[in-house]
Amino acid sequence: APRVFSGIQPSGGLTLGNYLGAIKRFVGMQDEGGFETVYCMVDLHAITARLLDPSELSHNTRELAAGFIASGIDPAKSILINQSQVPEHAQLAWIFNCVARMGWMSRMTQWKDKSGKNAEAASLGLFAYPALMAADILIYHATHVPVGEDQKQHLELTRDIAAKFNHDYGVEFFPITEPVIEGAATRVMSLRDGSKKMSKSDPSDASRINMTDDADAIAKKIRKAKTDPDALPSEAKGLEDRPEARNLVNIYAGLADMSVDQVLADHGGAQFGQFKPALAELAVEKLAPISSEMARLMDDTAEIDRILAHGAEQARAITAPILARTYEIIGMVR
Ligand code: TYM
Repeated sequence: APRVFSGIQPSGGLTLGNYLGAIKRFVGMQDEGGFETVYCMVDLHAITARLLDPSELSHNTRELAAGFIASGIDPAKSILINQSQVPEHAQLAWIFNCVARMGWMSRMTQWKDKSGKNAEAASLGLFAYPALMAADILIYHATHVPVGEDQKQHLELTRDIAAKFNHDYGVEFFPITEPVIEGAATRVMSLRDGSKKMSKSDPSDASRINMTDDADAIAKKIRKAKTDPDALPSEAKGLEDRPEARNLVNIYAGLADMSVDQVLADHGGAQFGQFKPALAELAVEKLAPISSEMARLMDDTAEIDRILAHGAEQARAITAPILARTYEIIGMVR
């Protein structure tokens, strides 16, 4: 069966952006059947921007695992792992550090944004981040990678790394990966500023819905979300120059599994005074059960650790032979 791989950083809490852009698609591909699915907490990536407090990193990793499970990732159907528990990811990443070119890496927009004006002070790991990401995917020979819009460039780099390895060694070993960027909410924007991505690192908590927010917090953030004074249009093209309005409609469509046109067929002509309460009700209905299930799962972290240990064992049955074959192709004496 074709293999699906995707990952999320345990660098903070989960947001609605992660849920609609990624996790909901993960669950969809798991349940569609026909795929072998591997989902990962990328703890090695989470320390590239800054070294986290150790208890914060372990808490975030377990809470992210709880978020995956509470959202419908079933450890009996998907392999659920923590990246550092499957050492072949980091081992293949070293090889890819030697395949990828400095020029390719310096063109990554995420590197440019995150290193900012002071690239001298950024970690080497932040620069090499996309090579580790390519290794995450290719150590499984995964062909399908569900992600949000912001990861597109990293997936193009993954294809370039696979192609260069195959070309340089004259093999057809690593597959050329397909990004899966689907649905109405592949780029969820801040609730305070329709030109910025919703992000766990935004200093304003009102800018995002956290997957741990309770019903009151969710409803309040939607009520206060920035909008414009006009009514909703009846077709998608009426949202073109209205980023905040478009974002709320996209969120509605993502949560309800509807197209934007369907949402506007139902709500076109409505004022935000009517639409926001409908959106808040839908968001609470879909998200509050996930946050309460996450809290329940976090009461038994030993069980989470058992699930991850089992996942790592299943994963290594796939990754160890692929790494061994990679070393053989390169000529490393074993
Ligand atoms: P991360 O942890 O930043 O985000 C995890 C996933 O959530 C998506 N996402 C969003 N989607 C829509 N709207 C948003 N506002 C939003 N914010 C985040 C991201 O696109 C992503 O799919 N580099 C990756 C983690 C990673 C990875 C991998 C992904 C490491 N190795 C291998 C795929 C395959 C990242 O930082 O995601």
